[in-house]
Amino acid sequence: MPRRNKITIVGAGNVGATAAHWAVQKDLGDVVLVDIKPGLPQGKSLDLAESGPVMGFDANLVGANDYDATAGSDVVVITAGVPRTKDPVTGQFTSRDDLVEINRKIVGSVTKEVASRSPNATLICVSNPLDAMCHVMLAESGFPRERVLGMAGVLDTARYKTFIAMELGVSVEDVHGMVLGGHGDTMVPLPSHTSIGGIPLRELMAEDKIQAIIERTRKGGGEIVGLLGYSGYYAPSASVIAMVEAIVRDKKRVLPTACLCKGEYGYDNLFIGVPAVIGAGGAEKIIEMKLGDKEKEMLEISANAVRDVVKLLPY
Ligand code: NAI
Ligand code: 2OP
Repeated sequence: MPRRNKITIVGAGNVGATAAHWAVQKDLGDVVLVDIKPGLPQGKSLDLAESGPVMGFDANLVGANDYDATAGSDVVVITAGVPRTKDPVTGQFTSRDDLVEINRKIVGSVTKEVASRSPNATLICVSNPLDAMCHVMLAESGFPRERVLGMAGVLDTARYKTFIAMELGVSVEDVHGMVLGGHGDTMVPLPSHTSIGGIPLRELMAEDKIQAIIERTRKGGGEIVGLLGYSGYYAPSASVIAMVEAIVRDKKRVLPTACLCKGEYGYDNLFIGVPAVIGAGGAEKIIEMKLGDKEKEMLEISANAVRDVVKLLPY
């Protein structure tokens, strides 16, 4: 009998619980939701399961505070950690990098728990600071680089495409493009590789508007934190589920993914967002696209920003 895919999501907070929602709605498989808060993963799973008869899905949903139910997962998404917030008194945002010390301990311990029970799973990190946390997952799991991925580029690209579609008054479906680099203010949107229904972006939009959209994309996470007081979760969870779907359905999608580069783009042993073919084997191939001099320069600035955070890790 064919077995259903098993997807574990660690962290039943905003991103994790919403990812579980998208996963069952898209019939991607059974979902195990884990969190340290007693009752939280159980309550979210049960509530979601009870929406099945209405919405017409029949995935098994399990919520737990330990890892036994996660054994044999095909994909594990790690959202556990502390998110970015806005201080109500000073109005200052927590930067992604401020989170490194606390989240590396959380992501490290979670990775050990899931990796020992699901040795063949593909791991996807969501917790911030994203690129550095991928290094933690790689070190603590001992998995090959193909099965340790980070989600950021799908989200950053989604924000970029949304802003372009809003500006031009066209469907988001017809906007094609990509954002590379680390998940931070130095990320690298690629207007030269952006098109609308096949028409190059620069034929349709003035340069000052393009630059404004690049800036808005880079600060897209902060824009939501500024509005809500905590970080966004609909687009982040949809983005990680696009990656999960590519894996469990072996779609071979080309998605901007935080991958461990080993020589690609001139980077060695560094996680950074690059285009990759995502399928049943995880990041099956990193695609090396031709970048212009300015784009290479921007990618280098972004890589340096990632290196600065990775330096803080004890690996
Ligand atoms: P949240 O606070 O709503 O959820 C985090 C959950 O993790 C909480 O329920 C918490 O109890 C749980 N948790 C903490 N320590 C744990 C542990 N040791 N084991 C299991 N669960 C644990 O936060 P949210 O908004 O869901 O964000 C989660 C993470 O994802 C944050 O680090 C955030 O910065 C990051 N993020 C990354 C994005 C990206 O593009 N890569 C986009 C959005 C968020
Ligand atoms: C975001 O980009 C906070 O990294 C998170 O929304």
